[in-house]
Amino acid sequence: MDFTNNSAEVIKQLGKEGAFLTSKYNGKVNTMTIGWGSIGVIWRKPVFTVLVRQSRYTKEFMENSGNFTVSVPFSSDMKKALAICGTKSGRNIDKFKVCNLQLNPGRSVDSPVIAGCDMYYECKIIYKQDMKKELLTKEVDSNCYPDGDYHTVYYGEIVNCYEK
Ligand SMILES: Cc1cc2nc3c(=O)[nH]c(=O)nc-3n(C[C@H](O)[C@H](O)[C@H](O)COP(=O)(O)O)c2cc1C
Repeated sequence: MDFTNNSAEVIKQLGKEGAFLTSKYNGKVNTMTIGWGSIGVIWRKPVFTVLVRQSRYTKEFMENSGNFTVSVPFSSDMKKALAICGTKSGRNIDKFKVCNLQLNPGRSVDSPVIAGCDMYYECKIIYKQDMKKELLTKEVDSNCYPDGDYHTVYYGEIVNCYEK
């Protein structure tokens, strides 16, 4: 499917309750809610860019896996699961069990997707960058990083995308 399909709905959903960022490595899977990200074209490729703070358990997965998926529910009601996956860490609870989330295998990457969402992106990490305080404006630094918990930005080539 064309990666731009449903992009307006996806971007709006990211700005509301968010979407699921899921990654798998070493046989373990974790998911967390993301609200920041972008879909576009870089290096002549369709790219989904996501931002993961250093403190997230998901960071460990992103560093080791090489791929991730983004599952976006814009018509189905997954508000409760997004709220839990956006406040609890997979270090402490099994989010899939607690939120009753079912996984479907990725079609093109090892990381699975969350069943029941509307739009899915399967991404291969082709670049990453740790944010640097000195490259940020003071305004963004003080508003978004008061405790120095900076993001790593992951650039995922969209190798597959599809509706439910
Ligand atoms: C609506 C919403 C959007 C969020 N967006 C992000 C994000 O883009 N990047 C990020 O690092 N954390 C984001 N978070 C916070 C993580 O989802 C949260 O810290 C989560 O518990 C991390 O889980 P983990 O430790 O299992 O990785 C968001 C939380 C919510 C509720």
